[in-house]
Amino acid sequence: MKNPHIRVTVVDTDKRRIDAWKSDDLPVSEPGLDSIVHIARDGDEAAGRKPNLFFSDNVSSEIEAADLIFIAVNTPTKTTGAGAGCAADVAHVESAARCIAEASRTDKIIVEKSTVPCGTASILRTIFDVLAPGIKLDILSNPEFLAEGTAIRDLLNPDRVLLGSLEDDSSLAAVNALMDVYAAWVPRSRIITTNLWSSELAKLAANCMLAQRISSINSFSAICEATGANVDELAQAIGTDSRLGNKMLRPSVGFGGSCFKKDVLSLVYIAESLHLPEIAHYWRMVVTINEYQKQRVARRIIQQLNNTLLGKRIAILGFAYKKDTSDTRETAAISIILQLLAERAIISVYDPQVTAETVYDTLERQRAPYDGEVSVIRSNVKVCRDAVTACANASAVVILTEWDHFKTDRVYHLLADQKRSIFAEQGTETSGTCSPTSSKDSAVDVSDPARPSPTLLTAVESAKLERIDWVSIARVVRKPGLVFDGRGVVDSCVLRSLGLRVECIGKPSATTALQTT
Ligand code: UGA
Repeated sequence: MKNPHIRVTVVDTDKRRIDAWKSDDLPVSEPGLDSIVHIARDGDEAAGRKPNLFFSDNVSSEIEAADLIFIAVNTPTKTTGAGAGCAADVAHVESAARCIAEASRTDKIIVEKSTVPCGTASILRTIFDVLAPGIKLDILSNPEFLAEGTAIRDLLNPDRVLLGSLEDDSSLAAVNALMDVYAAWVPRSRIITTNLWSSELAKLAANCMLAQRISSINSFSAICEATGANVDELAQAIGTDSRLGNKMLRPSVGFGGSCFKKDVLSLVYIAESLHLPEIAHYWRMVVTINEYQKQRVARRIIQQLNNTLLGKRIAILGFAYKKDTSDTRETAAISIILQLLAERAIISVYDPQVTAETVYDTLERQRAPYDGEVSVIRSNVKVCRDAVTACANASAVVILTEWDHFKTDRVYHLLADQKRSIFAEQGTETSGTCSPTSSKDSAVDVSDPARPSPTLLTAVESAKLERIDWVSIARVVRKPGLVFDGRGVVDSCVLRSLGLRVECIGKPSATTALQTT
C-alpha cells in the first residue's frame, strides 16, 4: 500500500484461502482491511496506481522470485509430546524454512514475522546452511505488535517497528533494506534495531507484560470486592502515575485471544528449559490468576443466585474474547459458561458478531470441566439473535465482552430527558441523578431515581435505541433481575433505576455491602 513500486505476493499452500483473498469476500475481517487490499490488489486507475499485491498458491516459484520473504505462519501451543500445553510449536516455521531453502536459487533476506521462541533464528540458520549451501539467506527478526480489531490502525501508526539482526555487514545491509520499506510511512525514530535474540524475545516479553498487567488489575479486583475499594478508581489512581500509564488496566473476566496465554506459556517453557524454575513460576502465575479470575466470576454469579442454578436461565451478553471481533479463541466465556452449565443452568448467549455454530464449536472443543455429553451443551445452550430474547426470563444477565453495543448511555440520556420534563412539570429539582460516566458505582449508592413509572418506560421504549434495549431487558428478566457486569460496560446507576440489581467486577457485591453497613 505504502510502497507501490514493490511487488508483494502472499503465498499459501491452501488454494481455497488464496482464492478467498482474490475475491470480494476476504477471509479475514478487520476494520480498514478491505479498502487497503482493494487499492493494492486491484489498483486505482483514477489515481494512476497499478496493482502491486498478488496472491498465489504456487509457493516455490514465488519464493524463487522474491528478494525478501516474511515467514508469517502460526506457532500454536504444542498439544502432544515434550512441552505439550506450554511450548510453542515451531513446526510450521520449520517447514516454511525448508520450502525456502529448497526453492531458493538466489540470495534473499528472510524475515521472522511469526511470534517465535527466542533462538528460532538458529533453527533457520541450520536448515538454510544444510539445504541451501552457497546461497546467502540473511535472517532478520521483525515481530508483529498489532492487536485484533485495531490491526490496520496499529499498522499505519505503530508505536515502534522492531528489526533484529546479527551484526555482520550482510545482516546490517539487510536491516537497512527492510528499514527503507517501513520508512515509507513510519518515522525512522520509531524504527528500533536490536540484535536478533533481543528482537525475538521482545515480542514474547511485550505480550507477557501486557498479560501481566491484566492479571495484576484482576488480582486487585478480588481485593476490591472484599474490602469495599473500587477497582475503576484504583486503576485511575494507578494509571495517572506516568511511570505506569493507564493502558491495559481494565479489570475483566480474564484475558482471552490466541496470543496472551500462548505466549506466556511459551515463556514459561523457555524459562524451564533454561533451568530457571523461579522465573517459570513467576510467569506461570499470570496464567494461573487469569484462570482463577474466570472461576471467581462464575462462583460469584452462582453465589448471587443462592448457590443453585438448577433450571435457572442465565443470559450471556458477549462471547467474543474482546469487542469488535468475532474471534472466540480462549475467550473467558468458555470457562464461565461451562461452570454455569455444570450447575445445571440453562444458558442463552447473544453476541452481535459470533454465530451459533461458532459458540457451539468453541464450547464443545473445551468442555473438559463439564461432565455432560456434547448433546447436553447443544440442548442447554441457546444462541439468540438479539439481547432481549436472550434475557427473557433470565435470572441473571452476565456481560462477558465489552461491546459498545451493550452500553447504557442512550438509556441514561432518555431517562434524564424524561426526568427533566417530569420534574419541570412538578416544579422540583432533578438532583441525585446518575451520571453517564459516574465512577461512584458502589453497591450502597442510594442516589438512584426511583424505578421509572410505566409511563416513563413506555416513552423510553418507543425511542429507537441503537444500543441494546435495556428498558425491555429490565421488563423481561426474571425478578429480581440481576446483571453481572464483567467488563465495566454499563452504568449500574442507570440499570438500578430500571429496577435491576447490578453486580460489577472489582466492586463489592450489593448484598455484602448492605450487610457490612
Ligand atoms: C495482543 C497484543 O495486545 C498485541 O500487541 C499483539 O501483537 C497481539 O496480542 C499478538 O501477539 O498477536 P490481542 O490479543 O489482539 O493483541 O488483543 P488485546 O487488545 O491485547 O486483548 C487481549 C485480551 O485482554 C482480551 O481478552 C481483552 O479483553 C483483554 N484485556 C485487554 C483486558 O482484560 N483488560 C485490558 O485492559 C485490556
